[in-house]
Amino acid sequence: MILRVENISKHYRIAGVKKQILGGIDFTLDGGRICSITGTSGCGKTTLLNVIAGITSPDSGTVTVNNRRMIYVLDVLASRLRNREIGFIFQTFRLLNDETVISNVLLPARIRGRLGRETRERAAEMLERLRIYRFRKMKTAVLSGGQKQRVAIARALVNRPSLILADEPTANLDKKTAREIFDILIDLKKEGRAVLIVTHDDYMHGLSDKVYIMENGRLKVAR
Ligand SMILES: Nc1ncnc2c1ncn2[C@@H]1O[C@H](COP(=O)(O)OP(=O)(O)OP(=O)(O)O)[C@@H](O)[C@H]1O
Ligand SMILES: [Mg+2]
Repeated sequence: MILRVENISKHYRIAGVKKQILGGIDFTLDGGRICSITGTSGCGKTTLLNVIAGITSPDSGTVTVNNRRMIYVLDVLASRLRNREIGFIFQTFRLLNDETVISNVLLPARIRGRLGRETRERAAEMLERLRIYRFRKMKTAVLSGGQKQRVAIARALVNRPSLILADEPTANLDKKTAREIFDILIDLKKEGRAVLIVTHDDYMHGLSDKVYIMENGRLKVAR
């Protein structure tokens, strides 16, 4: 089992009013599986991914990735676990706009101290597959939304993470490019990785091993 999420709760105080976002989330995800989550805007999907990635600390509950428990109090530990085990495709990309495409993609490998030839070749292959190789020396600031999206995907995969978190990774893409992204996710599954994807795309739900709907801070199995 790659991911275990146990009893995760999280509230935010919005304009002084306490709002429960996650109300006891429990699920597990094995390697070689794709699980998708859907749910109305603002229901807490991104919050859940941020908790899993160690970016947001929950009020209670635990997250375990590859038998390592996410520690929220020491950012350096959360960052290290995230860097080694998790590839996060952020809804808002979170690219370094003043850096080139290739430097963005290689950043997680640089942090990990693995900038060897193999990594660079893998990054180049990924950029080719995502059809953004020709932009590799351009600053990401000048790219379109869909191009940025694909840079974010390449960056998330460069360290060959065992768990991939994808937050609406095809929201900015046309249908054909979206299908290509889904194909990449299927390949990751075939390689034994675990993929957790937030998406509203029915085609992707059809490819997923399990589909959850998030409602009132909980996950309900939809399929
Ligand atoms: N840092 C924060 N401080 C206060 N409230 C927050 C914070 N982050 C998120 N929220 C609130 O928590 C709720 C859930 O947000 P979240 O981004 O997880 O939703 P979502 O399901 O990903 O929505 P979308 O489909 O629009 O991306 C929203 O009401 C949002 O305003
Ligand atoms: Mg979101």
